[in-house]
Amino acid sequence: MIPAKDWIKDLVIYQVYPRSFYDSNGDGVGDLPGVLAKLDHLVDLGINALWLSPVYRSPNDDNGYDIADYQEIMEEFGTMEDWERLRDACHSHGIKVIMDLVVNHSSDEHSWFLESKSSRNNPKSDYYVWRDPVNGKEPNNWASVFGGSAWEFVPERGQYYLHLFSKKQPDLNWACPALREEVYSMMEWWVKKGVDGFRVDAISYLDKPQDFPDSPLPPQPDGYSLFGQEIAGREGTHRYIREMGTRVFEKYNVLSVGEVSVSSTQELQDYVLTERGEFDMAIPFVPPVVEIHTWSPQKLKEDTLESYQLLRKEGWWARFFSNHDKPRQVSLYGDDKDHWEVSAKMLGMLLHSLPGTPFVYQGEELGMTDVRFPSIEDYDDPDAKNRYHQMILEGASPEEALDQARLESRDNARTPMQWDDSPNEGFTTGTPWLKVNPNYKRINAAAQRQDPHSVYHCYKKLIALRKDHPALTRGELEFVDLPEQELLCLRRVAPEETLLCVNNFSKEEKALPQGLVPEGAQVLLSSYDREGGWRPGRTALRPYESALFLVK
Ligand code: NOJ
Repeated sequence: MIPAKDWIKDLVIYQVYPRSFYDSNGDGVGDLPGVLAKLDHLVDLGINALWLSPVYRSPNDDNGYDIADYQEIMEEFGTMEDWERLRDACHSHGIKVIMDLVVNHSSDEHSWFLESKSSRNNPKSDYYVWRDPVNGKEPNNWASVFGGSAWEFVPERGQYYLHLFSKKQPDLNWACPALREEVYSMMEWWVKKGVDGFRVDAISYLDKPQDFPDSPLPPQPDGYSLFGQEIAGREGTHRYIREMGTRVFEKYNVLSVGEVSVSSTQELQDYVLTERGEFDMAIPFVPPVVEIHTWSPQKLKEDTLESYQLLRKEGWWARFFSNHDKPRQVSLYGDDKDHWEVSAKMLGMLLHSLPGTPFVYQGEELGMTDVRFPSIEDYDDPDAKNRYHQMILEGASPEEALDQARLESRDNARTPMQWDDSPNEGFTTGTPWLKVNPNYKRINAAAQRQDPHSVYHCYKKLIALRKDHPALTRGELEFVDLPEQELLCLRRVAPEETLLCVNNFSKEEKALPQGLVPEGAQVLLSSYDREGGWRPGRTALRPYESALFLVK
């Protein structure tokens, strides 16, 4: 049995989506000097690791998840010197720097691809996945994640290349040893520049079935079928990840977080059981549409418990409710209207009370909400736009299709950070690349930093509590079964102490069983702190009330 690395248990990772964080030069796009300018916000919050969504040179077909040069910084974001200044500032505050690494695919503007597509016999010919036409058409029926065929024809080679994502994101061919060497030496280059870890994008698809079978799923309106889950997590993919682990993660003792596509907790464990030598922790990708329709507090409990039991001795968890691909957590799991503040705090309290390393996505610490743009033109997410057009092809009205985009679009998480109540919320002096959420006058960092009962201060206290309470970082997990489906109650048990966290995921008051909160329990935090918090003797939880107790 190999236990998880100990130092990763003390991390609180803050994800910055640089495009939307802070614009230092008025061009409407967030940038690296902007992250540096706002570092005091993160230092004050108390986080100790910063995950930067991609900042590499990119034509931005998928907001940087299409990389044209892995060793250069995107011009809009600044220069390598800006990145180095940010690195040094982070390190001087004890903040680790985690880079996003996108190596399932590159941009079609990467020099590797330009060379690879130029002929069938150039030195980089095998760096991408090329196939001959079948009966004059695409090699199989796969749809790309962002719509249309997953294959694109290149006349110079008379062949198709595979792109599981947009056609500007050709898949790299991991079966090619020279390509793998390039990736590992690029990673080593970053480690030597002081990077403390990687969040590795879309990692489940590295190994492709060489016979490229048709997907068994029914065709979408455009005639292509989403590729089946069977291409995720193939044994070859696990072999490549282990090679990456030996060559980089373990060799340099850096943090590794895999973004994985899994259909069960069992599959998740294959990526993070320590003895397998793959990732320290994994972020399972669940499409927003699936989560919106399937989520419930009980499901969260069951999933958490299952992965807890599988990994508690030799593994670890990335704990998150939000990222740049998901709706805003307070809109999805809480109530962003009548109980906005208490539910935003409750989610933060639960996040920090569950086992694993918490990931805080920018703006979550302010309780930022989903947005409802008036027109599809206001949306940027290619995924949302594609679904909008698919829905209209299927007969939906423009208003229905727009409502769906409002619900699912990844732009919900990508509206610029709400710094203050000045025009454009203090994010930029120019025109923001994506419209701001009009609620910034009410929800913004400047106001919340001054208000001791804000969501921001709740997060700040939670991060501080993790430093003082070993039960939160290392305690065992026990759920307490309660008859009410909307109540989620758990204990964290360490040799030194036991903590209890009770949460009400409903708009109604819910009675608590007698004796659940022992007499004399010390209240560490309450989502109702503005109303005086938890008072001893209470027998019910108010709507979206969360309370964290030290019971022993
Ligand atoms: C997952 C990333 O989180 C997402 O934003 C991106 O579009 C895809 N991978 C493709 O890189």
